[in-house]
Amino acid sequence: MAKVSSDGTSLLEVRGLRKTFNPEGSLAHVALDGVDLTMKAGEFACIVGSNGAGKTTLFNAIAGSVIPDAGLIRIGGENVTFLPDYKRARKVSRVFQDPLKGTAPNLTVAENVSLAYGRSKRGSALKMAMRKEKREFIAEALSTLGFGLEDRMDVKVGSLSGGQRQAVTLLMATIGHPYLLLLDEHTAALDPHATERVLELTDRVAKAPDIATLMITHDLEDALTHGTRTIVMHEGRIVADVSGEEREHMQVGDLLELFRTSAGTKLADDKVLLKA
Ligand SMILES: Nc1ncnc2c1ncn2[C@@H]1O[C@H](COP(=O)(O)OP(=O)(O)OP(=O)(O)O)[C@@H](O)[C@H]1O
Ligand SMILES: [Mg+2]
Repeated sequence: MAKVSSDGTSLLEVRGLRKTFNPEGSLAHVALDGVDLTMKAGEFACIVGSNGAGKTTLFNAIAGSVIPDAGLIRIGGENVTFLPDYKRARKVSRVFQDPLKGTAPNLTVAENVSLAYGRSKRGSALKMAMRKEKREFIAEALSTLGFGLEDRMDVKVGSLSGGQRQAVTLLMATIGHPYLLLLDEHTAALDPHATERVLELTDRVAKAPDIATLMITHDLEDALTHGTRTIVMHEGRIVADVSGEEREHMQVGDLLELFRTSAGTKLADDKVLLKA
């Protein structure tokens, strides 16, 4: 199946996406208020926005864990808007903030990676390989991460550091060649050094020409220095989307100013964009 959509190049097309939680009654909350977004192969967009802006809900809708009220989601050209999550799991991979999610702590590094291969289309080829070849295959994949995990293949994942776990999770998330990689504050629980290393790895993973990456972050500096686009969400809408030369020259202060003007709101405190 070719990784293209109806317009020939987009891996993700989101049109007019809406979601209201608890629509009946006083708890009604509009989480997505008409989101349009197109991502092409090779693009890497960072999403920023204050708490409750709808960033995670957008990911949930793309991954299928939240079904929208209205709008359209196409992944790799296929309309998946109302498909359950398990029917699009091979197309969309997610990495969460919590390094405990995404891996099985009581299994070894090799067993976790082996499971990811098993779930992928490449699994059957791997199953046919001899046990020794399979270990070599996994060791080679681990060595590309640059975390030395190829020498710790028989260690339980639960005993790894958060950064090492996120590296294993990133490998597992991309083994099956998904169309989309969704990273939801995947470095927020890491120390600054581990954050830097996982972001370096993220940059490498996202450079694959046949994947589109979306990364939610509260670090505005990271949102400008990583990837190819910076998207600002506010109250369920995309209020700014910058790329190219405009983005290259942008500083954190400019991004905050852009947020103020495009969101049409005067922030009481700029930290509202950062982690609360
Ligand atoms: N399952 C749900 N049921 C009810 N309300 C929800 C649900 N999921 C999200 N919301 C609400 O929708 C709004 C958007 O939430 P979302 O998690 O998408 O925000 P976010 O931009 O990811 O914020 P944060 O930066 O805090 O992670 C919030 O007000 C949240 O309380
Ligand atoms: Mg969130």
